[in-house]
Amino acid sequence: MFQWRVGVVGGRWPPCSPKPRPGDWCSLGRVLPDVSRLDLLSDSDLEALRKALSPLTADLIARAEAVLPGSLDAVRLPVVQAWWRHQPGPGPILARLFAYADHLTVAEAEQVLGGLLPRLSEAGVLRSTAEGVSSAYVLMPFEGLLILSDPFGPDDPVMGPGATTYELARAIPNSAARALDVGTGAGTLALLLAKRGATKVVATDLSPRAITLTRFNARLANVHVDARVGDLLAPVAGEQFDLVVAQPPFVVRPAAIDAKTTLHGGPQGDELAFRLLAELDGVLAPQGRALVRFDSPVLSTPLIARVRTALGRDDLRLTMFLGPPVSPERYASAYASAMDPRLGEDYRRYASAYYEHLLAHGFERTTPSLLALDRRPPHYAAALRPPNLARADAATIALTETALAMAGLDDSSLLGVRLRTQPSARVVQDQPLGGEPNFHLRFTTGVAEDQEIGESVAVLLDGFGEGATVSAGLSAFAAAHGDPGPKEPLLRFVRDALSKGILVPA
Ligand SMILES: C[S@@+](CC[C@H](N)C(=O)[O-])C[C@H]1O[C@@H](n2cnc3c(N)ncnc32)[C@H](O)[C@@H]1O
Repeated sequence: MFQWRVGVVGGRWPPCSPKPRPGDWCSLGRVLPDVSRLDLLSDSDLEALRKALSPLTADLIARAEAVLPGSLDAVRLPVVQAWWRHQPGPGPILARLFAYADHLTVAEAEQVLGGLLPRLSEAGVLRSTAEGVSSAYVLMPFEGLLILSDPFGPDDPVMGPGATTYELARAIPNSAARALDVGTGAGTLALLLAKRGATKVVATDLSPRAITLTRFNARLANVHVDARVGDLLAPVAGEQFDLVVAQPPFVVRPAAIDAKTTLHGGPQGDELAFRLLAELDGVLAPQGRALVRFDSPVLSTPLIARVRTALGRDDLRLTMFLGPPVSPERYASAYASAMDPRLGEDYRRYASAYYEHLLAHGFERTTPSLLALDRRPPHYAAALRPPNLARADAATIALTETALAMAGLDDSSLLGVRLRTQPSARVVQDQPLGGEPNFHLRFTTGVAEDQEIGESVAVLLDGFGEGATVSAGLSAFAAAHGDPGPKEPLLRFVRDALSKGILVPA
């Protein structure tokens, strides 16, 4: 996908001239089109565009994403473009043009866009090239919406849906009355909130270009989003929201690299995210909830402690999901290839700048995190480590929050709650030839890491089966295992299992 996905960000191949001109395909992402020209498209143009783009679906994109998954675009994109040319119908032609940075012949463009072709050219969406027609923007289907954004490149482009946007989208609960999207980019999450029925949606961004694209995308989707230019929460000072979502820029910025508004959060990367956390209290309604996605270097003070300090209050329910840490090598190659997808001279320069910066600051690992917080009692702060953040969807977050609240109950209350073993967990017993049996807990849907457990833990989990009170679970354990001894270690195990997602509310 010609997309904002670290390591899988596109650019067209093969090489082009060292000095790209506007209109030349090599200028994609270098010379950004004049975004104000989008206003030239009338409501009836947009209606015709929605109709013409209906074959461009997320399912279609998913088919192409299964081609050479995980390869860098320098390797993958030419093959995917060739693959698309063998797929029949209008959808693949639209996908080539808008999502995979390919050129169409004029005849192909006329086939899928008809009379819209001159209108889209006038509005700067399409460019004529030596080979035919190309798109100056990326246009991606996203959860039933279409999002127009900039291709990534050395300019200061506006971000459309990327892998981290999808992580946040999955974590968003179904309904919220008043919703705020901070650092909206092309408006992807704001539009999603509006589509899911929020009565008021405000989107903010420091970049005027981002706000213009958000307004255009809201028009295209026929939804209302109040899009405002400004720094973090300044445009909504004095207002309150039931849901705040944000993915502030969180990439470290080496001094040798020009800052990109959409990417860099500061020398440490997470500065902007922490500034947002410190200001959040001012806009969260009493029952309000926030979901914030950012990366942070691993420092001597644990991330959760730094987050609590930034939030400035303890009467919170704070659940942090931490993804697998990223090494400096992977970090440097991912962001350098994002900035120069064709892996040219800039790739070498960026890779070296990122790597040297991380090492100079002692950032040996970086942790991706998704934070959910509100003020519902009981209050707690917990960090969990699912195998990847995509697992932290709204249902899993809600279940985790209930489990963590239960883990904080006093002993007698805890004995009365009904729990069950995580539905996707299986206790697997291995018996090596001539050896002792050992037990593993396997999670078929990957909600947690597989882990080795002792026999008594296997027996205890068996006692909960598909649902039992803690008291009944401990009695079943006593019956199977003989005298279990004092209750405290067992209750400690139950609390630990609740906080790790091994036991869940029944
Ligand atoms: C990583 S992008 C996220 C875009 C979008 N929310 C998404 O998830 O796809 C970060 C966005 O924050 C914006 N931004 C950067 N600094 C900001 C600031 N100080 N205040 C508000 N927005 C800012 C950038 O322009 C960019 O659009």
